[in-house]
Amino acid sequence: MSSTKNLAIVGAQWGDEGKGKIVDLLARNFRIVARFQGGHNAGHTVIVDGSQFVLHLIPSGILHPGVVCVIGNGVVIDPAALFAELDLLSEQGIDTEDRILISDRAHLVLPYHRDLEKLAETRRGVNRIGTTSQGIGPSYEDKISRHGIRIGDVVGAISTSRLKAAVRGNVEACNRLIEADEDSEEWSAVLDTVVRLGPRLAPMVTDVSTYLDNAMRTGKSILFEGAQGAMLDVDHGTYPYVTSSNSTTGGICTGLGVGPRAINGVLGIVKAYTTRVGAGPFPTELVEGVGDQLRVFGSEFGATTGRPRRCGWFDSVIARHAVRVNGIDSLALTKLDVLDEFEEIYICTGYKCGGSILTSPPANIDQLASCVPEYEAIPGWCNEAKTSGIQNDKELPSAARYYLKRVEELTGVPISIVSTGAERSETIIRSGSLVAPWLT
Ligand code: IMP
Repeated sequence: MSSTKNLAIVGAQWGDEGKGKIVDLLARNFRIVARFQGGHNAGHTVIVDGSQFVLHLIPSGILHPGVVCVIGNGVVIDPAALFAELDLLSEQGIDTEDRILISDRAHLVLPYHRDLEKLAETRRGVNRIGTTSQGIGPSYEDKISRHGIRIGDVVGAISTSRLKAAVRGNVEACNRLIEADEDSEEWSAVLDTVVRLGPRLAPMVTDVSTYLDNAMRTGKSILFEGAQGAMLDVDHGTYPYVTSSNSTTGGICTGLGVGPRAINGVLGIVKAYTTRVGAGPFPTELVEGVGDQLRVFGSEFGATTGRPRRCGWFDSVIARHAVRVNGIDSLALTKLDVLDEFEEIYICTGYKCGGSILTSPPANIDQLASCVPEYEAIPGWCNEAKTSGIQNDKELPSAARYYLKRVEELTGVPISIVSTGAERSETIIRSGSLVAPWLT
């Protein structure tokens, strides 16, 4: 049993719940922040003293000096994206030297993965997933098909015949599929790029599982940072409209090489309403009117792709599902202030589906798409007071407190943190909450 106190932070909707802000808020109380899945499809926005940082691959703990940021084997890494992010952070005055560790078992995302993704999305036609076009899915496909290229293949034993054969095989297979000479990659050029990555990557590369094991044995605490959200998990989300990794807590063990007892608490992040980017069923989506208002009030545009996010009311059916599949102990609810202008707010309590009421999302995607949400109306607080910027629970308007209470009752877990604005300071840490041990 681990003697340290490690916390997992995971998205409990379709991503973009505001995990970046919450990780940043808690990170100073940890020695290590570790990403376990996804890639640069993620976009975590953190605002500190008016300056905005958008992180894609690098854990949000990087903004705190002294915190070591780990990228696990479960993450797929586009070195070009990684280097661009490192350069941008350095321009913004953040020192990343000796603070980033990358697993030697993590797979690479290379240019041909983006070509393959473009092809796959085109072939899907009207059924396209609406991916982030970063090559994430094809990189995971290579990993599962057992012909992916790992960081450890590039660092150290460079220019081996195995690496050459792997790059050549992958690029030629890609070119056969895309059947378009003008877009095809030259395998030797890709090999060249891959080989040139080695020296810059090398100082960051390590055996992450062993590093984390030693860290825990010497009492260092770890914050496990999830990307995307439960409904985008390849097993537990709205398959096939999902990402290609396990964004739920199960992914921590496989994506970092730690045992299940390394996770001492799980904090799920939900927005006060629901959003989704890309295609796929979204039962509480509001196509116009309130949906547009939520998008404007909440600045709901993707941090990675800039795409407008689809918006709708809070869905306790999916939140309960996320609580169950992740083992969530407590929630952080973000963007409460976005609801400040509404006279009436709705929470989905169940789905009407084929004559019955469902309280958990069905696996069949067509069945989910046919579900009609059952709503509970809750009075808004627009005539009472705003929640924007409030830092103390007691100052919240009573209707907002009632809203939080209903979310707690419907999801079955307490709310530990409430975010009332984009700044670090615009946050309520509720007394006696799960996160209290991580704040002392
Ligand atoms: P992919 O991860 O790029 O393959 O995209 C698969 C689905 O996950 C698409 O619907 C994307 O919009 C969605 N997605 C991937 N990453 C994120 C994220 O960080 N936030 C929200 N949606 C995401």
